[in-house]
Amino acid sequence: MCGIVGYVGPRPVQSLLISGLRRLEYRGYDSAGVAIVEGSGIDVIRKAGRIAELEAELAGRSGQGTTGIGHTRWATHGAPNTINAHPHRDCSQNVAVAHNGIIENWSNLKAELIESGHVFQSDTDTEVVAHLIEDMADLPLEESVRAVMRRAEGALALAVVRSDEPDLIVGARRGSPLVVGLGDGENFLASDIPAFLEYTRRMAVLDDDRIVAVRPEGVTVTDLDGAVVEPATREIEWDLESAEKGGFPDFMLKEIFEQPGAIRDTLRGRFDSDGLVRLRELDLDLETARSFNKVFVIACGTSYHAAMMAKYAIERWTRLPVEIDIASEFRYRDPVLDDKTLVIGISQSGETLDTLAAVRYAHAQGTTLIAVTNVVDSALSRESDAVLYTRAGPEIGVAATKTFTTQLVAMQLLALWLAHARGSLDDAVIQNAVTAMSLLPDQVEQALTQSDQIREMSEQWADRRDFFFLGRSAAFPVAMEGALKLKEIAYVRAEGYPAGEMKHGPIALIEEGVVVVGVATNSHVKGKMLSNMEEMRARAATIVLVLTEGDAEGEAVADEVIFVPWAPELLSPVTAVVPLQLLAYWLAKKRGLDVDKPRNLAKTVTVE
Ligand code: M6R
Repeated sequence: MCGIVGYVGPRPVQSLLISGLRRLEYRGYDSAGVAIVEGSGIDVIRKAGRIAELEAELAGRSGQGTTGIGHTRWATHGAPNTINAHPHRDCSQNVAVAHNGIIENWSNLKAELIESGHVFQSDTDTEVVAHLIEDMADLPLEESVRAVMRRAEGALALAVVRSDEPDLIVGARRGSPLVVGLGDGENFLASDIPAFLEYTRRMAVLDDDRIVAVRPEGVTVTDLDGAVVEPATREIEWDLESAEKGGFPDFMLKEIFEQPGAIRDTLRGRFDSDGLVRLRELDLDLETARSFNKVFVIACGTSYHAAMMAKYAIERWTRLPVEIDIASEFRYRDPVLDDKTLVIGISQSGETLDTLAAVRYAHAQGTTLIAVTNVVDSALSRESDAVLYTRAGPEIGVAATKTFTTQLVAMQLLALWLAHARGSLDDAVIQNAVTAMSLLPDQVEQALTQSDQIREMSEQWADRRDFFFLGRSAAFPVAMEGALKLKEIAYVRAEGYPAGEMKHGPIALIEEGVVVVGVATNSHVKGKMLSNMEEMRARAATIVLVLTEGDAEGEAVADEVIFVPWAPELLSPVTAVVPLQLLAYWLAKKRGLDVDKPRNLAKTVTVE
């Protein structure tokens, strides 16, 4: 997730780009840059860090250009430094490109371009676009961008300027957002509306595989064959604050609804043409992958719940024994580690001190360390032997939502990759799992359609003080996560517990007024899970069940049900957790709480 802004018109573009980028900083903030057409050339100024650093770099610059593009980055390929900041240029420096998305076939394109003599400056996938356009200097810019869109695979939102067409920005869109702001004698291009809302309330919506030529006097939208397409236009009624939240009342709800896209991005390019898992960036040789005899997964908070799920997946698919550890406990218990141990550290921020301290301790014993994180070049990724990135984009709400579901997906990918490397699963089994994984974004989308129903349901429990979240097997981590969400944003006591363990003590707490939320999605222990829920019901608790669509047997046990689409047992946590996120969200809202900034919490905990 990155932010793009572009402007053509009479105004000096530099300050306009900076204010637009500030409005898009929620989309990413590890580096930023602008490309401004000045006379017969293009000035490109880039800087690692937040927009303020770029603004300082631009202070005192004398250019007065009125056409330009800007970019704020959330790294996916290449470290978040100045060299990898956008916009990127070609060898001749006549082209500048800002990009949001992931070009899946970039390494093939890059190899081909290097072979034909192009020299690359950055480690990004984006730079291939600038060099491809350079090779088409005799074509109108719009045509060359069209040709790039035909060759590039994956998700692309592009904004491109070329020095010989100074009053033109060409944009293109596939999979990543890009909207056009329609002004009077001036026009805008941006990843999101807030970037231009100060100047115009009229916008044009771009569909996938559209090219847009943006000039001061107007915009032309065409398809990949060059046929002109009339875009839908509309008036924006949001104020700036709601526009920054995409029309949602809070970042948390926006991020809950971003999960289908975040999961899609996390899966993108990670399956090969044989239907197996391909983790090119993992950088671990097969011999090492085959040498492991045990696995530790270490994390805190929500990331620990992803670790819990990973234990089920890795053990079932690779037959390697897995231990999971809360990071703050790990190094104080003298764990048994050696050079045959694989350690996986999960942290959305990659900066959580407890997790860093734990994995450093483990790494120092000669283990192999894999990081699963959302932040490129975070401390965790720098210190690891290999990194698997979740691609959720920045998460602003303190409560982890989209980073959790993408961690689940990343760990499922990693488990399948290990299974293939070690030969512990037949290809056909992996292929089936891959097919099921590719359905997850749409299934999560479907689960989200129940938001209103969950709001209405949860309103009746606004004053209840005791909640239990129960699950068995791979649904147990989901229950733990549901309880954590409720605690942290609604300030309600909630226990996450393995359903079968209730009878050994906690069942003494069950009485009328207690809400018991059971996760009873597809599982080989679903029958046992339903029996456990019957035990809660017999003690007069209010029973809420998350079930697989069409599960009449489960429905009979519950006071309220929330259905999610069917998924194989080890993938079902991805959809099953979504209703629990919504339940916590709507209960917190009913209680009038600030869900984005819950009390006493910080997004990243950098103390022990
Ligand atoms: O950045 P990390 O994933 O390492 O953060 C770990 C926990 O601090 C984090 O998951 C925390 O529990 C969140 N508030 C959960 O919503």
